[in-house]
Amino acid sequence: MNNEGVDKSKRQFLTSALTVVGAVGTGYLAVPFLAQMQPSAKAMAAGAPVQVDISKMETGQLIRVAWRGKPVWIVNRTEEVLTTLSTLNDKLRDPLSNESIQPPYSKNPNRSIKPDIFIAVGLCTHLGCSPTFRPEIAPVDLGNDWKGGFFCPCHGSWFDLAGRVYRGVPAPTNLEIPPHRYVNDSLIIIGEDTVEKAA
Ligand code: FES
Repeated sequence: MNNEGVDKSKRQFLTSALTVVGAVGTGYLAVPFLAQMQPSAKAMAAGAPVQVDISKMETGQLIRVAWRGKPVWIVNRTEEVLTTLSTLNDKLRDPLSNESIQPPYSKNPNRSIKPDIFIAVGLCTHLGCSPTFRPEIAPVDLGNDWKGGFFCPCHGSWFDLAGRVYRGVPAPTNLEIPPHRYVNDSLIIIGEDTVEKAA
């Protein structure tokens, strides 16, 4: 269940820390290198946006950043994952995310602005544990029904790789998607929506 590992098989995502940059960027493992760039603790607690450079992300990789004291995941999904997501609706509690928290621009089957890049708050919607990243299909411990996703070992909740919760598990809703926007193809701001607002 170690979601920090690297699996080089085609079915598995790579998990590692990338350098997360920006005046307020704080990748978990990048924190020591960015200390001089970080906002004050007060600003962090108030929810200062986090800038994340994804230019060096590999396909299948997950990186983590902290925002408002919460883990936020960014996953570079494979084509195989996107294909699999489209087959899972009948196994999910809220496949269309009607009862889940996400910005309007992420209320779609992939729950993302760009199909390949998935961003979510990494906290289980049951009691708030942080699920593990399990992108492999049908691992021995999770069985043949596991199609890759996020597994919460606390009480056994399953989420797919769009953060959608399966039926019959304790978690009531899909994983939350935080507000975010793209500055360009490489730079994402977590905690900030698009500048344009409805009149
Ligand atoms: S906190 Fe995740 S299943 Fe209970």
